[in-house]
Amino acid sequence: MTMLRLFPLLALLLMTLPVHARDPHSYANLDQVRVSHLNLDLLVDFEREQLRGFADLTLDWRQPDARTLVLDSRELSIGQIWVTGSDGPWRAAQWALGESDPLFGQALTIELPGQPKRIRIEYHTAPTASGLQWLAPELTASGRHPFLFSQSQAIHARSWIPIQDAPAVRFTYDAQIRTPAGVLARMSAANDPRDAADGRYRFSMTQPIPSYLLAIAVGELEFRSLGARSGIYAEPALIEAAAHEFADTEQMIEVSESLYGPYRWGRYDLLVLPASFPFGGMENPRLTFLTPTVIAGDRSLVALIAHELAHSWSGNLVTNVDWNHFWLNEGFTSYVENRIVEALYGKRRADMERVLSQRSLHQELAELPPVDQHLVIDLHGRDPDDGMSAVAYDKGHWLLHTLEQRFGRELFDPFLRNWFDRGAFASVDTDDFVRFLRAELMDPHPGRFSAEELNAWLYQPGVPAHAIATRSEAFEAVDAQRDHWLAGTLAVDGIEVADWSTQEWLRFLDGLPDDLDGAQLEQLDERFKLTGTGNSEVAFLWYIKAIRAGHAPIRPRLNEFLVAIGRRKFVLPLYQELAKRGEPELEFARSVYAQARPGYHPITRASVDPVLQR
Ligand code: BES
Ligand code: ZN
Repeated sequence: MTMLRLFPLLALLLMTLPVHARDPHSYANLDQVRVSHLNLDLLVDFEREQLRGFADLTLDWRQPDARTLVLDSRELSIGQIWVTGSDGPWRAAQWALGESDPLFGQALTIELPGQPKRIRIEYHTAPTASGLQWLAPELTASGRHPFLFSQSQAIHARSWIPIQDAPAVRFTYDAQIRTPAGVLARMSAANDPRDAADGRYRFSMTQPIPSYLLAIAVGELEFRSLGARSGIYAEPALIEAAAHEFADTEQMIEVSESLYGPYRWGRYDLLVLPASFPFGGMENPRLTFLTPTVIAGDRSLVALIAHELAHSWSGNLVTNVDWNHFWLNEGFTSYVENRIVEALYGKRRADMERVLSQRSLHQELAELPPVDQHLVIDLHGRDPDDGMSAVAYDKGHWLLHTLEQRFGRELFDPFLRNWFDRGAFASVDTDDFVRFLRAELMDPHPGRFSAEELNAWLYQPGVPAHAIATRSEAFEAVDAQRDHWLAGTLAVDGIEVADWSTQEWLRFLDGLPDDLDGAQLEQLDERFKLTGTGNSEVAFLWYIKAIRAGHAPIRPRLNEFLVAIGRRKFVLPLYQELAKRGEPELEFARSVYAQARPGYHPITRASVDPVLQR
């Protein structure tokens, strides 16, 4: 066939294919068949560190001649796969596991007779499943019971459930979970706070969700109500402090609803995980998972709750179709987070947080290759976690803030609310957003924001020159005091910190030069007791500055911090800073890591290992 004849044919073929027939990080043949419901039946076996049971998948076939279902899996041991009728298993199906890829796992290819509505996969997980952490009792607060929790985002659901692990696919789910008595199981689904810890649990998620929002936690958990539809689960030792810290949760829900429409998920509960949780928070629907490191005692880090709650609109309701469009999840969420903070804690606080976000973006841009500075990035063949940079979060936030400023809130707020309404329970990409923005704001209000400006945010590196930078008078006052002290014109005792918030402390520390001398660091520490502070964000920045200045006296407390906490955002940069300095810091880092590593999550280990060449 000549090229001339081939071309129109090819074009026709491409046009008839659904736009998102494949996901760059999934083996699934989404163009042929999609999972519409999952029924899980699992036993939680702490001795073997394994989930064991079966997954029933309800299938929605998309092409008449399709006979094959390809699922994602990673380190799963598959037993039998059954084609099921209405009354249970009916006949065994042929299946094969493909070659194992370090990033994407293994394709599980199932050959089916016809197009059955339901299949059953018997399987169990590996103790090393990348999406699970099994904690021995010693690694929990009480030391009485073991703990298990999942972290499925971005592509770890496949390590504990054979599934189409691609955010383009949404399904409802039910689960029956059996555990030893004395521990409570919770999932990202309807949870009845009155459940007794009797070892048998049932869950039901009636709204369709993508696989990365599948979640489970099992452990010694206590519940406290925070309001009519919100509450908190935590280990008994933490429940009091946690309930105090997150007392504003119900109000946050109300504020979000007033801006962006009804909260559509029923209850909104929080679950505080052991300190090895690798992230700050995870927006598992109806049940946000949290690091205990946000419990500062003074509610100063609750923007994180606002953030995870905001995902109930951006991310969980309107979902990025694949990880190349991650900014649609995190940029929108960071913007909404800031609006919640403003409504609850005032403009001064929201502005400070936005300035911190813009500054950390600039710091990260300095280290990132230009192509990874676009909002839309190309993660083909790469770990989707590589997309988890300040670009998606802070550059995304900044674009929305700029749009808000250009169009005014009277136009922008209803626009965003419509975006969530119109895209509810759908998976979308950046082109969907561009079309919507043009139709709803740019075309009806010409001259306020141009196509070139939009293009610069989405497809060019850096921050566009027209970006509106936030000013904070509070921070200018902090800067002035710091500069005076550094210049020797203000004594350390003269620094006026009585009314400083955590955000002002972060600003103060962030602006310190890297070459402070030992005497200066001692002065600060003597007066402000920074080493060993219970505020994890402040402690983190202080330790970074102290490491860069080669200040050894922090070591015992830094050691404790790195052993007690497994949040990747804190521990990874600290090990990196230590490693950068070479000996003797490298030796210190290695010895700390040897103590800490057994308590770290697989995700954190995978990030730190290469830094210390393990
Ligand atoms: N969804 C993210 C966490 C995530 C992203 C996990 C990508 C795995 C892959 C969550 O909403 C989040 O952004 N958490 C932040 C806190 C937030 C306040 C910036 C975190 O964990 O640091
Ligand atoms: Zn987020």
